[in-house]
Amino acid sequence: MPKLTEKHRLRIVTRHKASIERYGYKPAALFWKDKYVQELRFAQFLDWMEAQPKLAGQPKVLDVGCGFADLYKYFTHHGLAVNYVGLDVSPDMIFASQNIYPDLKFLNGEIYDFELENESFDWVFMSGALNEVIDDSGEYAFGVIRKMYELSKQGVAFNLLNQTHEWTFQCADLMSFDPQKVKRFCQTFCSHVEVKMDYLPNDFTVFLRK
Ligand SMILES: C[S@@+](CC[C@H](N)C(=O)[O-])C[C@H]1O[C@@H](n2cnc3c(N)ncnc32)[C@H](O)[C@@H]1O
Repeated sequence: MPKLTEKHRLRIVTRHKASIERYGYKPAALFWKDKYVQELRFAQFLDWMEAQPKLAGQPKVLDVGCGFADLYKYFTHHGLAVNYVGLDVSPDMIFASQNIYPDLKFLNGEIYDFELENESFDWVFMSGALNEVIDDSGEYAFGVIRKMYELSKQGVAFNLLNQTHEWTFQCADLMSFDPQKVKRFCQTFCSHVEVKMDYLPNDFTVFLRK
């Protein structure tokens, strides 16, 4: 599975350092247009979680590319209590999140930097973290998705930018994907794959259930 090169890592870290300095702890620092589109993505995860059978105790959740851990805030404000762990390659994001939520666990790095196999995550989420251009083929993203699936006991949900949308297709500095190609890839290792595309024109969410 390909990992981030030092060059990619540095670009992501530098971009986010500058965006926090410019915007503060706001969705704009995460390159979201506004809070509405950020939370619309979270709402897809919440709706799906609400449809899943309840587990005994709080589900343990890993949020890959957690930014300011706004997914944790969104889940808790909507009545979904979770045992949350956030992971982000940007040290500035992790520093900010740890300040906001001193009692939560945060990991600074990419998903391959840690031995997470024994952490027993029920669910693994990722919103917006694969929008960075890493390669032309999408191989990095596919590796991360596969790894997220391996680390989850119950399932995985993530969103990607939709390549079939004209605006996204023209954005050379954003990585976007063909939803059908992503679905076919996920079906090679998961038998319960759903794709949702009806909430924003330029985005889609994939749900993988074990
Ligand atoms: C668009 S922001 C979304 C943040 C958060 N998920 C949210 O929706 O509020 C993407 C985040 O992913 C992080 N990121 C980008 N590529 C990553 C990677 N390969 N591994 C881990 N984190 C990554 C960035 O540092 C950034 O904080």
